[in-house]
Amino acid sequence: MAIAYNERTHRCGSLRKENVGDTVTLAGWVNNYRDHGGMVFIDLRDHEGLTQLKFNPDTDPAAHEIARTLRNEDVIAIRGTVATRGENVNPKMLTGEIEVEASGADLLAKSKPVPFEISDHVEANEELRLRYRYLDLRRPQIQNIFRVRHQLTKTIRDFFDDEGFLEIETPVLTKSTPEGARDYLVPSRVQQGSFFALPQSPQIFKQLFMIAGFDRYAQIVRCFRDEDLRGNRQPEFTQVDMEMAFVKRDDVMNTIDRCVVRIFKEILDVDIETPIRHMSYAEAMERFGVDRPDTRFGLELQDITDVVRETGFGVFKGAIESGGAVKCIVAPGGAELTRKVTDGLTEELKGIGAGGMPVTKVVDGADGPEFATGVAKFMQEFCKGICEKTGAKVGDAIFFMPGSYKDVCKYLHFVRTRLAEILGVIPEGRWDLVWVVDFPLVDWNEDEKRWDSTHHPFTAPFEEDIPLMKTDPGKVRSDAYDLVLNGEEMGGGSIRIHRQEVQRAVFDLLNISEEDAQLKFKHLLEALAFGAPPHGGIAFGLDRWVMKMTGQESIREVIAFPNTQRATCPLTDAPGSVDEKQLLELGIDIRPEVRAKLEKSAE
Ligand code: AMO
Repeated sequence: MAIAYNERTHRCGSLRKENVGDTVTLAGWVNNYRDHGGMVFIDLRDHEGLTQLKFNPDTDPAAHEIARTLRNEDVIAIRGTVATRGENVNPKMLTGEIEVEASGADLLAKSKPVPFEISDHVEANEELRLRYRYLDLRRPQIQNIFRVRHQLTKTIRDFFDDEGFLEIETPVLTKSTPEGARDYLVPSRVQQGSFFALPQSPQIFKQLFMIAGFDRYAQIVRCFRDEDLRGNRQPEFTQVDMEMAFVKRDDVMNTIDRCVVRIFKEILDVDIETPIRHMSYAEAMERFGVDRPDTRFGLELQDITDVVRETGFGVFKGAIESGGAVKCIVAPGGAELTRKVTDGLTEELKGIGAGGMPVTKVVDGADGPEFATGVAKFMQEFCKGICEKTGAKVGDAIFFMPGSYKDVCKYLHFVRTRLAEILGVIPEGRWDLVWVVDFPLVDWNEDEKRWDSTHHPFTAPFEEDIPLMKTDPGKVRSDAYDLVLNGEEMGGGSIRIHRQEVQRAVFDLLNISEEDAQLKFKHLLEALAFGAPPHGGIAFGLDRWVMKMTGQESIREVIAFPNTQRATCPLTDAPGSVDEKQLLELGIDIRPEVRAKLEKSAE
């Protein structure tokens, strides 16, 4: 008689000693198969766990016959009786005290041999795992990530619901929203020659919701950005996006503090202290060289420009004379680091554009600490001053970086991060949250000789800094804030410009002409003229939260069907070619040189 697989009595993780003697129906995948002298043992797997099945030729010869044909990943349904395992308890399995003696079995689907084992420790490379992602997703460890993702989404939705926010959807086929990346474009068939842009964020729409009077909006929403991909970036990712009317920045940050407390409590049972501390952008750059500081460990940047101002050492002198700085990181106990390690670090640094990195060690000298090795001979005269200023002691190493303020920050941030790994000073299980505030409104783009928005062009400048927009734009601070967790940017937001004339002035500063502004943002500019309440908000990177909460190194692990680093999907082969007819309908063509390249690679 066929097994009623639609009437499963239990799932594979649920049977315990108390169930011994029960008749049960289970269904799932063959996780592994062992034939012990006629007796067949199978671990049956479903989304909840594993149950050992025993097929005894004397109990049910037909079921045993089926069992003998089974291989990993075949799908079966069984009926049987729960029995104790006696001496053979497996403490590693939740169901390790019992097994099910099968009295009936149905093969529901056969599986081909799988390209990699479905287990927690898979050796297969990422490309293969993504090519067969549905098999990869069968792995219990990965399923757990998606359980956390679900819980996190639910916690966040419940939080915003409790706080009176409305979830409203925003368009996906839309116009460009500037968040600093390239747009993904979708050609229009009906309006040939015109393109939709997929949203980089719902920024403008959420501002329109505030102008529409919704007061509080939150949405869990897909965003699209064509940008360089890294471990924490995907072209398609999910934001927790929110906006509030009649608020100042502390109201937004306090709301998020409450949300973060709830997330940590419900997902990890960790208590987070609030208010989450604030750090100005200037302080973050000064101490850590980056606007998303990892505050779990020291190795802070120290400015020694004044101490070495009179130096004759070429690279330091050059940097100081051209208005730059000399900063350093003192690595406690770093004198132990081998030449190979410090040279390796310098090479890595060169890989990101640095010219090099002077290093020295502090040793015991005749008259107190002195420098030895590396750039010691150029710096000896400043040894006392540097040690006093930085607190460097005998046994430490000092990593110097001369250059423009921006370069020094960039390179020493890199050195700090790598040194922390090398020295093993990053504490486990610590959650360091910090709000970075008081960002500059604009950032000078040296290549294109113009000002760029640090956040986006709708971010409000500090009211008192508005006059500086004409005289010293680099000094204008913005009402923006980023939430940083263990050195990762988890979210960013701002108070928005709600008055047309300020928006116009910011566009002027960014060199966005009236015509261009109308072309790109007419809908927002027009709306601002119809009574916009003061408003502000923030967006979280949901994938990054899941990544942190589940201890993953890559964002791809926490997205069901992610893209590779090259923005392709090995499973679907997206992006793919389209046929000529579709191109014709859309009124577009592939450029001849691209066609030639495609034809060549197809040969
Ligand atoms: P922002 O551009 O800072 O702000 O984005 C908000 C957060 O989204 C996450 N994020 C990403 N996650 C994965 N892959 C990506 N490619 C990616 N890009 C961004 C980050 C980031 O902190 N509209 C504004 C928000 C606002 O002002 O309210 C915005 O999108 O965690």
